[in-house]
Amino acid sequence: MFHPEGPSLFELTRQALTSTERGYDLLAQKFDVTPFRTPDVLLAPFFAHVFGGGPVARALDVACGTGAQLTHLAPFVTGRLTGVDFSQGMLDEARRRLGPRPELVKLDARALPFEREFDLITSAGAFGHFVGADEDALLAGISRALVPGGRFVFLTTPMPKATSPANWMARGFNAVMHVRNALVKPPFIMFYLTFTWPEVKPTLERHGFDVSARDGLLPGRLSQVVAVTATRRG
Ligand SMILES: C[S@@+](CC[C@H](N)C(=O)[O-])C[C@H]1O[C@@H](n2cnc3c(N)ncnc32)[C@H](O)[C@@H]1O
Repeated sequence: MFHPEGPSLFELTRQALTSTERGYDLLAQKFDVTPFRTPDVLLAPFFAHVFGGGPVARALDVACGTGAQLTHLAPFVTGRLTGVDFSQGMLDEARRRLGPRPELVKLDARALPFEREFDLITSAGAFGHFVGADEDALLAGISRALVPGGRFVFLTTPMPKATSPANWMARGFNAVMHVRNALVKPPFIMFYLTFTWPEVKPTLERHGFDVSARDGLLPGRLSQVVAVTATRRG
């Protein structure tokens, strides 16, 4: 699972004991060889689906990290291309990899400052960082940032069966994080089993979206991955 040039278990533990933002600053230079970067094997068919109707003028990637999604967005975005993240370390890596084109802004995605400025918003690999009230703050900002008819698109999965090993591993990890956050401040917010489909649908509807979903875009075991399109109502 881990690459020889990736972070050691010691480094990951040290990062997890700082804070979400500082943890990513410390991880940034090795992030692209971790399993936490959303892999291109997921992103290529996803973006082929997203841009099936043609390019868009303005797009934003939220919690862009080192730029995995921005790389796929760039050929299909004719105008403003923006990535936001609260880790300066991750943004520095994104700039190094992507060159001068995308606008990269250091900000907290729980307080997005944009008003009807984008036709398309993407986010990947980051929903575990937004739980409870933070999930609502994130979605309210995304809804505000889109023009009416604009799309918020992302990949997710169904909730694993209650008896499955995946479910127990995720719940075990979440329990460890709850204990870590009870004992150590500031917290490191990262939890599994968030934004699952269809559980996320009513939350998106409450934030002013019409929602549709498509599975089967990816081959084999990955065919259960769901591409969600949330279209901002007028
Ligand atoms: C697992 S990485 C995913 C990066 C990239 N989207 C990808 O798929 O490879 C999660 C990213 O979310 C960012 N992040 C977490 N909480 C955030 C917040 N409240 N505001 C902005 N960025 C945040 C982290 O700094 C990190 O870059």
